[in-house]
Amino acid sequence: MLKKKVLYALEQQRGAIVKGGQLADHLGVSRTAVWKAIRALREDGNEILSVPNVGYQLLQTNDTLSEEIISEQLSTEFIGRELTVLPTVHSTNQCLKERDAEGMASGAVIIADGQTRGRGRRRRAFLSEKGEGIYMSILLRLDGRTQDLRQLTICAAVAVAKAINSVCDVQCQIKWVNDIFLGGKKVCGILTEGILSGELQELDTVILGIGVNTGAVPEEIQSIATSTGLETGVYGIRNRLAAEILNQFEAVYLAERQNNGRREILNYYERRMLHLGQQVWVCGAQGDFMATVRGLSEAGALVIQRENGEMEQITSGEIKIAKERTSNESQ
Ligand code: BTN
Repeated sequence: MLKKKVLYALEQQRGAIVKGGQLADHLGVSRTAVWKAIRALREDGNEILSVPNVGYQLLQTNDTLSEEIISEQLSTEFIGRELTVLPTVHSTNQCLKERDAEGMASGAVIIADGQTRGRGRRRRAFLSEKGEGIYMSILLRLDGRTQDLRQLTICAAVAVAKAINSVCDVQCQIKWVNDIFLGGKKVCGILTEGILSGELQELDTVILGIGVNTGAVPEEIQSIATSTGLETGVYGIRNRLAAEILNQFEAVYLAERQNNGRREILNYYERRMLHLGQQVWVCGAQGDFMATVRGLSEAGALVIQRENGEMEQITSGEIKIAKERTSNESQ
């Protein structure tokens, strides 16, 4: 479609003025056709400036999601090769589940502009304002392999932290097990869900949901949540960051299957672990208790030290500091 080609051409020179005639020649269409495409792109919300008698400029802050632009920046073998960008949906994890029956390939990805019922862990809501974040889900087929869901969450957390570091040039911290933090507040959450199938109800497909705040954060959660934009002042990165998360995730996911790869991933995670060496509340099925965070086990469990000095490995639940424990807010 011409509209997509025009956007792609402008994206290649984002921030610069591209001559209308040059665009038309490059795409083999008339200048009027280019103008109509620009008009349609603006109607879709793209920030494109017209400079009379000169050309068009895609503004640096433009942040519309685009399948073409994300795909063009992918260096993956299979992650994101089947990519669908949608406007607002209920939940991308739910969308992928519904489409799973259509026989999507491993690595298929859905990215949405917003979510009306974004889901988080422990049945919490994940606020997903339109245009203010990247809401994506990745479908993974296990093809008979056994897979620990926690390890996948860890792979995704490492991939997101690496991607934010590379695109935004800032270091993230990781809060066990599925939250990414920037400047002391949550910037990303990860929800890993398994789908059981067959007579034996075996885990054969996993849906990995990743939500990253990139723009404005709703007022009611501003004390606990932030975004890449708020922390760095840089906006207009959704396509680049989405592609980089997918690139990093494939590399980490494939490395995790190799023996020495896993250790490297765990080391990366542990080095960035929030609250390492600090006293926290461990909240889980057995109730809440205080302990000191000591690290991450080979299996991705949280290693804590109880107040009586005993070391323990936590495989479920979450950690909280006092402020979070008393807050009703969630993302
Ligand atoms: C959490 O913070 O507890 C996890 C949040 C996961 C949010 C992502 S956004 C994309 C995907 N779709 C959902 O409904 N949830 C995940």
